[in-house]
Amino acid sequence: MKNIVLIGFMGVGKGTIARAFCAHTHCVGVDTDDLIESMENRSIKEIFASDGEAYFRAKEQEIALWLSKHVKDTLVSTGGGFFMCESLKKIGTVVYLKSSFEGILKRILTHQNAEQKLAKRPLFADKEKAKALFEKRAPLYEKKADIVLHVEGKSVAQIVKELEKKLKR
Ligand code: S3P
Repeated sequence: MKNIVLIGFMGVGKGTIARAFCAHTHCVGVDTDDLIESMENRSIKEIFASDGEAYFRAKEQEIALWLSKHVKDTLVSTGGGFFMCESLKKIGTVVYLKSSFEGILKRILTHQNAEQKLAKRPLFADKEKAKALFEKRAPLYEKKADIVLHVEGKSVAQIVKELEKKLKR
């Protein structure tokens, strides 16, 4: 199996889908935010607050290069801005989890840990700014994607099945 790389906006469900897909297919999953947090021994929120976004983006580039060189047969879930990394396409098949901004907001706000979900995402602190970022990125995610998967209004099980089907084609 080639690596699979899940991209998409913050809160679209990349981590949730990744875990369900791995459980279903018995493959191994890694998450780029988790890798950065363990590399740095601090949270994304702390990295942004102490060293700023540019520093975080540089870490993403490092992780992307490392993944492209050393990792195979793995499902890679990513942070919402990871799609900008130079080595992205070298990692594996890029799957864009697509939803409207309203769909994402609804997903986050109806979650039982909504406050926690928002608090750990510095770029979601201001909803207007987050929406503007979404509008800017939406066409760029599509451009990078080998596969576009519409996730809005679908159950996790349904999305996992569709992903499996699309990857087999
Ligand atoms: C970011 C998304 C976050 C995290 C960081 C930056 C972004 O990941 O990588 O806060 O630029 O969209 P999630 O997509 O998992 O929230």
